[in-house]
Amino acid sequence: MALIAILAGDGIGPEVTAEARRVLDALDLDLHFEEGLVGGVAYRATGHPLPAATLDLARRADAVLFGAVGDPSCDGLERALRPEQAILGLRKELGLFANLRPAMLFAGLEDASALRPEVAGAIDLVIVRELTGDVYFGDKGRRTGADGLREGYDLMRYDEAEVARIARVGFETARRRRSRLCSVDKANVLETSQLWRDVVIEISAEYPGVALSHMYVDNAAMQLVRNPGQFDVIVTGNLFGDILSDQASMCAGSIGMLPSASLDTGSKGMYEPIHGSAPDIAGQGRANPCAAILSAAMMLRHSLHLNDAADRIDGAVAAAIAGGARTGDLGGAMSTRAMGDAVLAKL
Ligand code: IPM
Ligand code: MG
Repeated sequence: MALIAILAGDGIGPEVTAEARRVLDALDLDLHFEEGLVGGVAYRATGHPLPAATLDLARRADAVLFGAVGDPSCDGLERALRPEQAILGLRKELGLFANLRPAMLFAGLEDASALRPEVAGAIDLVIVRELTGDVYFGDKGRRTGADGLREGYDLMRYDEAEVARIARVGFETARRRRSRLCSVDKANVLETSQLWRDVVIEISAEYPGVALSHMYVDNAAMQLVRNPGQFDVIVTGNLFGDILSDQASMCAGSIGMLPSASLDTGSKGMYEPIHGSAPDIAGQGRANPCAAILSAAMMLRHSLHLNDAADRIDGAVAAAIAGGARTGDLGGAMSTRAMGDAVLAKL
């Protein structure tokens, strides 16, 4: 029996996670669920966005199914108490260094993409984002400069071991797909990126079957909207991956369709829709649960090795979309629950 921690969090998190849970229940797998508080809701209940009990649950669990964190009413809090710190803390504490963000266009959603249908239809890529280093976790702070001016700083740094391990995840991911890996950096300006590029090239010797290319991040942002079909797997650092994955999601139709997996060196993982808490539509039952449902499928695949069950979920979502099921983000008017029902009907 596998223990799944459900951390639904803020905003639409609980609504979409409930649908993912219904789909998992319908598959009748040997799973045990335990819920924990996280984000703004945890701060209000306990005074901290990542309470010790939640971290303990996440550590004990075989996998974490995560909703969303983010609450505008917490924006005035000191940084350490803001909801976002919960997710950064979970990533760091659980060693979830590898973030897989697949972006593909579901048949039938061609018109939902911000791109022309023939351009959007070619999207089928995975962004492998480093998740526990970079400017997110470097030395940061405020100080007064020599001239008396206020300064803010965030140190960008990677060591070669951090780059090597995420590079290997990139190569492994590419090897299971179309064997093309594009490493995205800013080596023309940043020394961190030059080290990144040097190490990725060194690691490429272990993967002769994978074609490696390099792209500067500004060019990658442009190429993602110009011709996204050119990418198979992208490997990049934490900050660049954050930005490019939001961009890729919109090319693929809706951010409401895209799941993600955050993995450690073993089979532990945290699975979450890449959309946030969407406070503007929270509590209205209008959010698209597909990203959460597809995240549950990634969980079955990566942490529990239940590939057939994962395939069934992926297929049911694709069939529901092909059958015309649409929430508001996809140009329809279905409720969260009705979309969940549509997926369940295809399971
Ligand atoms: C993401 C989010 C987070 C990040 C925030 C909520 C801290 O944008 O998962 O992409 O920046 O990593
Ligand atoms: Mg982001």
